Amino acid sequence: MGNPVIKFDHVKKHFVKRQGLFGKSALKAVDNVSFEIQQGEILAVVGESGCGKSTMAKMLCKVYDPTEGSIYVNGTDISSYKKNKDVAKFRKEVQMIFQDPFGSLNPAHKASYIVGRAVELHYPELSKAEVKARVVELFETVGLTPAADFMEKHPNQLSGGQRQRIVIARALAVKPSILVADEPTSMLDVSIGIDIMNLMIDLQKKEGLTYMYITHNLASARYMADRMVVMYAGNCVEQGATDEIIAQPLHPYTILLLSSTPEPFREEKIEIYASENLPDLTGEMNQCPFAERCPKATDRCRREKPEDYRVGGRLVKCFLYEHAATAEEVGIDVSIYNKVK
Ligand SMILES: Nc1ncnc2c1ncn2[C@@H]1O[C@H](COP(=O)(O)OP(=O)(O)OP(=O)(O)O)[C@@H](O)[C@H]1O
Ligand SMILES: [Mg+2]
Repeated sequence: MGNPVIKFDHVKKHFVKRQGLFGKSALKAVDNVSFEIQQGEILAVVGESGCGKSTMAKMLCKVYDPTEGSIYVNGTDISSYKKNKDVAKFRKEVQMIFQDPFGSLNPAHKASYIVGRAVELHYPELSKAEVKARVVELFETVGLTPAADFMEKHPNQLSGGQRQRIVIARALAVKPSILVADEPTSMLDVSIGIDIMNLMIDLQKKEGLTYMYITHNLASARYMADRMVVMYAGNCVEQGATDEIIAQPLHPYTILLLSSTPEPFREEKIEIYASENLPDLTGEMNQCPFAERCPKATDRCRREKPEDYRVGGRLVKCFLYEHAATAEEVGIDVSIYNKVK
C-alpha cells in the first residue's frame, strides 16, 4: 500500500454523559478505530444505528476532535490545524454530504445562489461572470442539465434526488480531494438513490476523489466501495476488500448483517440471531462488544476484549480467528450466507 490519503490511528471519541445531579460517565461512541483510505479509493463504513459512523465522519471533518488517537489527512495530523486560516484551508480539501438534502439546504435561497455562494467564499478572486460560469459547469457536472432549468429554483421546487445533486455541486464547488458522504441516499427512493450512487462513482473516477461512504446498508456498500469497515458499538469488527467480505464474511456480526439483508429471490425465511441486547456504550468495555448477541460467544469473550486478528487481507476483531482462517473452520453455519449470494 502507498501513502494513505486518510488514516485513522487508534481513534477514540468519548462523549461526557451526565448521570443524576453530579455523576458523569463517558459514552464511547468510537472506541479505538484504525484504518486507512488510499488515494482514489471508496471506503464504506457500515453498521447499524448508533455504532459511531457519523461521529467518525464528523471527526474527519474536524467538527469534533478525537478524545484519543490521531487522524491523518495526506500525512498531516489534522489536530495540528488550529488557526482559523489552516482549518479553512483543510475544509476545502474535505467536504461532507449529509443524509438529508432538504435539511442541509437553506429553503430561502435559489439553487444558483447556494452553489454560487460556495464558489465565491472559496474563490473570492473570481468575477461575477466567472462565478456564474462555474455554477453552470457544476450543475452540469452533477447532471442538472440544462443548468438554466434549475438555477432559479428553490430547494422545495426540486425533488429529493435533485436536491442531493445540489448538495454535491456545492461540495464540489471548493474542489475538494476527499468527500465524506454520510448516508447520502437513505432518504431517497431506491431508484433515485442508485442514480446518486452512480453520479458519485462517476465523479470519483473523473475527479480522482477519495471517499468515506457511510451507510447502514450492506447492499449500497457493496455497490459503491472497494473496501469496507464494519462497525459495531464503536468498534471496527471487520475490515477488508468489499468483495471478500461479501463472499465470505468472518466476524459473527458481519454474518448477521449480511444474512439480514433482504434478497428478492431468497425462498427460505432466514432466522437471524438478532436481539435487542445492544451494549451499554458507557460501561467499561472489557469484553467483546458483540458478546451479548453472538451465538459463538465463550466465557473468554465476556471477560476479555479481542484484538484484531489478520486473516489474509482482512482484520477481524474476534477470538475465533486467532488460529483460524475461515468461518467454516470456526464452526459457523455458513449455509446462511451461502443462500444469500
Ligand atoms: N454530540 C454528542 N453528544 C453525546 N452523545 C453523542 C453525540 N453524538 C453522538 N452521540 C452518541 O454516540 C453514539 C454514536 O452516534 P453516531 O451518530 O455516531 O451513530 P451512527 O452510527 O451515525 O448512527 P445512525 O445510523 O443512527 O446515524 C450514539 O450512542 C449517540 O447517541
Ligand atoms: Mg449517523
